[in-house]
Amino acid sequence: MKPAQGKLGVMAVGLGAVTTTFIVGTLMYRKGIGLPGGSVTQMARIRVGRGEQRRYLKVGEIVPMANVSDMVFGAWDIFPDNAYESAMNAAVLQPKDIEPVRDELEKIRPMAAAFDSDYVSRLAGKGGNLKTGSRRQLIDQLRDDIRQFKTQNGCDRVVVIWAASTEKYVAYDETVHGSLQALETAIDDNRTDLVSPSMCYAYAAMSEGAPFIMGAPNTCIDIPAMWQLAEQAKVPIAGKDFKTGQTLMKTVLAPMLRTRCLGLSGWFSTNILGNRDGEVLDAPENFHTKEVSKLGVIDTILSSKEQPELYGDIYHKVRINYYPPRGDAKEGWDNLDIFGWMGRDYGMQIKVDFLCRDSILAAPLVLDLVLCADLAQRAGLWGTQRWLSFFLKSPMHDFTQGEQPLHDLFQQYTVFKNKIRELGGYEPDEEFE
Ligand SMILES: NC(=O)c1ccc[n+]([C@@H]2O[C@H](COP(=O)([O-])OP(=O)(O)OC[C@H]3O[C@@H](n4cnc5c(N)ncnc54)[C@H](O)[C@@H]3O)[C@@H](O)[C@H]2O)c1
Repeated sequence: MKPAQGKLGVMAVGLGAVTTTFIVGTLMYRKGIGLPGGSVTQMARIRVGRGEQRRYLKVGEIVPMANVSDMVFGAWDIFPDNAYESAMNAAVLQPKDIEPVRDELEKIRPMAAAFDSDYVSRLAGKGGNLKTGSRRQLIDQLRDDIRQFKTQNGCDRVVVIWAASTEKYVAYDETVHGSLQALETAIDDNRTDLVSPSMCYAYAAMSEGAPFIMGAPNTCIDIPAMWQLAEQAKVPIAGKDFKTGQTLMKTVLAPMLRTRCLGLSGWFSTNILGNRDGEVLDAPENFHTKEVSKLGVIDTILSSKEQPELYGDIYHKVRINYYPPRGDAKEGWDNLDIFGWMGRDYGMQIKVDFLCRDSILAAPLVLDLVLCADLAQRAGLWGTQRWLSFFLKSPMHDFTQGEQPLHDLFQQYTVFKNKIRELGGYEPDEEFE
């Protein structure tokens, strides 16, 4: 394991609500003012050793995590606003929590974005801070950005994370996404219909030897072409789409039903959201990308094949409604129709009303994913990191090998803890805490 020496560049695609909430919180935290609540790498205590030997250590005491004080932030966005202006516009955090780090935020000015309004129709004509050129030219410019950022900031390592808008749904196409060679041909042929901007960032990051994390549900990192690139460039990648609110609840409640052998006939999830993300997702083609990511969650936990009497006929529906008055303060409702003893005639209901704050839940995941991706890189791990499924709505699995994605939050946490133990030189185990 290489030590976490020198500066770690964190380059975010998108300088919107999630990214600015992450940067402000991290800057406040390293000043000793902010609480990194929700961040497992900063707050969790993991048991190592057994019996008399057991100890509860912070993640950074088990493995050599990069220190948040060594992070340098950069970003790309279609809007030219600096991180201070963008954080104020996003209005997730209060000015009293932004002002103490204003000077540092004002220095973070977004680089021009690789953007295509066909992929995010609601942002068409907005911003104007754009690169131009073919897909190959965009990639070359992004690679240049990464190299320059590294040199100008004296970074030892860089992680690139997508926290930009959700793109329209791109169906997997074997002829373009099925292999690295096919993708490279499509890039050179400027196949703008099937090579999305997010694929350009992922391709550029990995080609520069930087781990790439996909925080949105875009078709991007979950295609064989990208797996091959990750292998070739020897960089870690993970699944996609931060697991924050409603889906987090789903992956807690569904295992409860399964372990108690309670049946499920329907699960209806809806929510109201009024930030820019909500506006983008109001377009049906962008919502579909999110819908696919959210719908996949319970199928592997509640298996219709293994338990047809309990889970053979589930009506699962997910809706997101753009409702500006709420801003980033999302409200998510879930209704579960369940049954047990004597079957469906004695149905019961569970209602969840989660009044959350979208970016407050996502920001710690950005920190954890960046730190873990950097850890993996220094540990010489590359390709899909299943242990990072814990943080993601669409955990990655190799679907060509028939692997199942792991959705159950507690199973995911076990895998996560064991990887940390293993990297720290301890024995993995599943003992009671
Ligand atoms: N907050 C959560 O709980 C959560 C959970 C899961 C996923 N996400 C995803 O995270 C992403 C960010 O969410 P947010 O609330 O910060 O959204 P946001 O709209 O506030 O910020 C996204 C930013 O990305 C920029 N952008 C769009 N396309 C770009 C491109 N090609 N290159 C560079 N910049 C680009 C936009 O201009 C915008 O400023 C969204 O895709 C969202 O779906 C958020």
